[in-house]
Amino acid sequence: MKLSVIGAGYVGLTTAACLAQIGHDVFCSESDVEKLAKLQNGGMPLFEPHLEDVIKGVRKAGRLRFGSTEEAIAWGDAIFICVGTPPLANGDADLCAIEVVARAIAKRATGYRLIIEKSTVPVQTGAQLRKHLSVHSTNGLRYDVASNPEFLREGTSVEDFLHPDRIVIGADSPRAAGLLREIYEPIVQQKFTCPIHSGCPKRKDPIFLATDTNSAELIKHASNSFLAMKISFINMVANLCEVVGADVTKVAEGMGLDPRIGPAFLNPGIGFGGFCFPKDVQAFVRIAEKSGCDFSLLKEVEKINQRRVEHFVEKIRKELWVVRGKKIAVWGLAFKPNTDDVRFAPSITLVKALLAEGAAVRAYDPEATEKARAVLPEVTYCTDAYRAAEGADAILIVTEWDEFRQMDWNRLLSTVEQPLVIDGRNVFSPEQISGKGFRYVSIGRVDASPWQAAVGEKIDSSSLRAGNSVQEVPA
Ligand SMILES: NC(=O)c1ccc[n+]([C@@H]2O[C@H](COP(=O)([O-])OP(=O)(O)OC[C@H]3O[C@@H](n4cnc5c(N)ncnc54)[C@H](O)[C@@H]3O)[C@@H](O)[C@H]2O)c1
Repeated sequence: MKLSVIGAGYVGLTTAACLAQIGHDVFCSESDVEKLAKLQNGGMPLFEPHLEDVIKGVRKAGRLRFGSTEEAIAWGDAIFICVGTPPLANGDADLCAIEVVARAIAKRATGYRLIIEKSTVPVQTGAQLRKHLSVHSTNGLRYDVASNPEFLREGTSVEDFLHPDRIVIGADSPRAAGLLREIYEPIVQQKFTCPIHSGCPKRKDPIFLATDTNSAELIKHASNSFLAMKISFINMVANLCEVVGADVTKVAEGMGLDPRIGPAFLNPGIGFGGFCFPKDVQAFVRIAEKSGCDFSLLKEVEKINQRRVEHFVEKIRKELWVVRGKKIAVWGLAFKPNTDDVRFAPSITLVKALLAEGAAVRAYDPEATEKARAVLPEVTYCTDAYRAAEGADAILIVTEWDEFRQMDWNRLLSTVEQPLVIDGRNVFSPEQISGKGFRYVSIGRVDASPWQAAVGEKIDSSSLRAGNSVQEVPA
């Protein structure tokens, strides 16, 4: 089918490339002229595993083109809107970019078009779109508006798109539902040439869930808000563990073994970030408020998350005593591993707080340096994690990139000023790092100093007065 994708960001670019991969003829538009030029010249405006290869393959096969939104509107029988929906100051989703696209479609498209909202939008946006299209349409456009929320995760977006657990569509006419089923049939049947796996691992076929537009829109916000709630929940459990001397890793493991709870999203840390959870929780709260429903549960989820960075900075202060003038190595800036995305990343709030206290920050991220530099110009960016740690009073683990698991700790020991690791993602077990001669502070667990590893000291949680300071336990 001839398909158009509007917006070549993390979602749009993945959508365009994967729809072309499964056999469609896709035209993808982008309004940012630099990004568009890069794509047209075979470059990539963002980092996402496998995506560049998929794009190369489908462009070579002639199934993916990049150009203007006007060209995209003229091209596709179905048009996927994948533009950004950032938060406004009051928490509402900013739908300006969607409105601009809708108006352009109304003014330019002719014949019949299926217009699909893939951007995350508040419930009833589909209804607003229909109204807007009918007001502005000048060429006798006939259309359906459908919702097709996207559940891909940055870092695994190609895999998530091609091997999803579910495809949700919200359509209010049989024609729209039928077209969406046709578009996704190769994925539902898992019949396409997979660009990632030579033989795809056996897994359950995706569920194709068809519903009305309002419900599909709600599914997306409700799903993200629920996952965010799990993260904030385990972060509160982590705080409790720190006070009573329990181990949040074990608590999460014990909880996650219950199939009604499941282990996913029970990793405590310095909080969730990125272009989905923070803004989607806010938008969902606002939707509820405007509908007369008090979703204060989600306001707490947000508050707990906002306090995570401050809680982490408190750990840093406790260890360093005075932060001013200290050299701090920050490992990881992306809001999660395998992406270069720093939007709403906890690292940004953290680094700003450290700079405000007078610390000198040396940061390293395998992919996100360029994007971080644009928002944090005062930081010294290093080409690897060892350089960032040179002369450091503390190494902070902020993003759980795999390469941080493979570090040579003997080498690090000889370059740091103070052997101190404060791990905001619980990448290691306390024994792993304290055994290498470092003091190790993490989230929701008893901290560990090198002497404990040396004497094989067993930590007696009942001997802890409060907090996680084992330094107070006599040797
Ligand atoms: N990033 C994710 O992991 C993710 C996952 C699921 C859903 N979503 C949702 O998908 C939507 C897009 O997210 P994203 O991360 O891809 O954002 P993004 O900012 O990376 O991409 C949006 C792109 O749209 C372009 N754009 C804006 N107006 C345009 C226009 N009129 N014509 C052509 N291009 C235009 C922008 O320049 C930008 O490149 C959001 O609603 C987001 O909530 C994101």
